[in-house]
Amino acid sequence: MSDKFYITTPIYYVNDYPHIGHAYTTVAADVMARFHRLTGKEVYFLTGTDEHGQKIEKTAKQTGETPIGLADRVVERFKTLWEKLNISNDQFIRTTNRDHIFGALHFFQKCFESGDIYLGDYEGWYAVNDEEFLTDTQVQELGDAIHNNPNIVRLKEKTYFFKLSKYQDKLLKYINDHKEFIQPEARRNEVIKFIERGLKDLSISRTSFQWGIPLPQDPKHVMYVWFDALSNYITAIGYGKDQAMMDKWWPANVHLVGKDILRFHCIFWPAFLMSAGLPLPKSVFAHGWWTIEGEKMSKSKGNFVDPFEFVEKYGADPFRYFLLREFPFGQDGNFAAEQFRLRLNNDLANELGNLVSRTISMVGKYCGGKIPNIPSKSSLVEESLQHAKNFQQHMDKMTFDQALNEVALILRKTNQSIDTAAPWKMAKDESLKTQLEQHLYEWMEAIRIASVLLYPFMPTLTGEIRKN
Ligand code: ME8
Ligand code: MG
Repeated sequence: MSDKFYITTPIYYVNDYPHIGHAYTTVAADVMARFHRLTGKEVYFLTGTDEHGQKIEKTAKQTGETPIGLADRVVERFKTLWEKLNISNDQFIRTTNRDHIFGALHFFQKCFESGDIYLGDYEGWYAVNDEEFLTDTQVQELGDAIHNNPNIVRLKEKTYFFKLSKYQDKLLKYINDHKEFIQPEARRNEVIKFIERGLKDLSISRTSFQWGIPLPQDPKHVMYVWFDALSNYITAIGYGKDQAMMDKWWPANVHLVGKDILRFHCIFWPAFLMSAGLPLPKSVFAHGWWTIEGEKMSKSKGNFVDPFEFVEKYGADPFRYFLLREFPFGQDGNFAAEQFRLRLNNDLANELGNLVSRTISMVGKYCGGKIPNIPSKSSLVEESLQHAKNFQQHMDKMTFDQALNEVALILRKTNQSIDTAAPWKMAKDESLKTQLEQHLYEWMEAIRIASVLLYPFMPTLTGEIRKN
């Protein structure tokens, strides 16, 4: 097992403020980062913002700002949210940073030197919101609706192309030989099907707007924003500049992404890396999407869940816990305010909160505030350790909901053990004193185990539990 762990989130667009979806990916990455640090690994955790491209330029026009003015304003919002949510990232990268631009150009140059970039003519449809060239299948699916969609524009320009078609077989072989590369499995199959339909060369520069990294060979062209953005995963760790840092951290252990950007991370990115002669990330994990009270989040519906609101009202830890407890990572799930309140009441207040407060108060009342030191091989402690083992296995697979379920079992069993033992009765009988102390020891031990496991999810709350 390697002693290092490099994890990334997508870098988010700065066209608008962060919502629950952004918080979801970043919290999940933070939980993984904290978990791996807990197991003694050296961790590098990267997040940041994607600031170039047509979408940002277009939004800035609408808000009456310069693109960099818009980016500077929105970036603050992301940074503040990550602070409030206790995100322990090691770096926050912005694609408008000089160092990133240097690295992205170096990466482009490497692909160019491999003979994989050529000048040609691009004609087709482009979705500005997703910064995506539409495939024939997408165009067919949209039908006539394509003409009155304000998000979709027709492009006809001279652009540089990347020879994506050249990598079709190599990619397929790699994906088949490395089962762990794309997770979960359903996403892997999706990518394989997409590649099997045939890969066309990819346009990787644009001339019809300005806001991007100009290509030194031909400064009318700015780099396609996805080429620019994806390279952040290596520019952040010194690509083209700090070989020692690159050697230390690359390849990444996992790129965490939403299912919406699977294709970019599992087809384009690995092909670029192959072209530049770099190893591929060990895995890309694509999680599912949140809907809000049963509906897709969208600007027109105005139903974005604002994470700031929840953090203000309930604190960071309950919100973090809820995000990963509610439904399996990898699947889609629904946000309902009522469900959130139920979780808080059941899991956190009743099961955990109650358990901790009544056990601590018993230690105070029956043992003068000192946790009795009578290690016993009680079945509760043994079972808790077994749950801890299962927990670890789930964390390695990022099945967070099941990992948390193991903790819930420890808490439930401990609560049951207290109810069965009825310590308030035992306390009345002097001859049962040792037995009572033994129980208190095992209950406290179970709580200690649970609080260590919960730490990556609720770093503040668990710290407070252990202080007591
Ligand atoms: O795609 N449910 O940025 P973006 C769950 N800049 N997760 C969601 C979500 C939802 N409803 N909505 C968004 C970009 N996300 C590019 C990435 S990476 C080199 C460049 C999360 O601001 C999810 O992680 O549109 C998704 O992949 C990401 O936000 C998209 O963020
Ligand atoms: Mg998006």
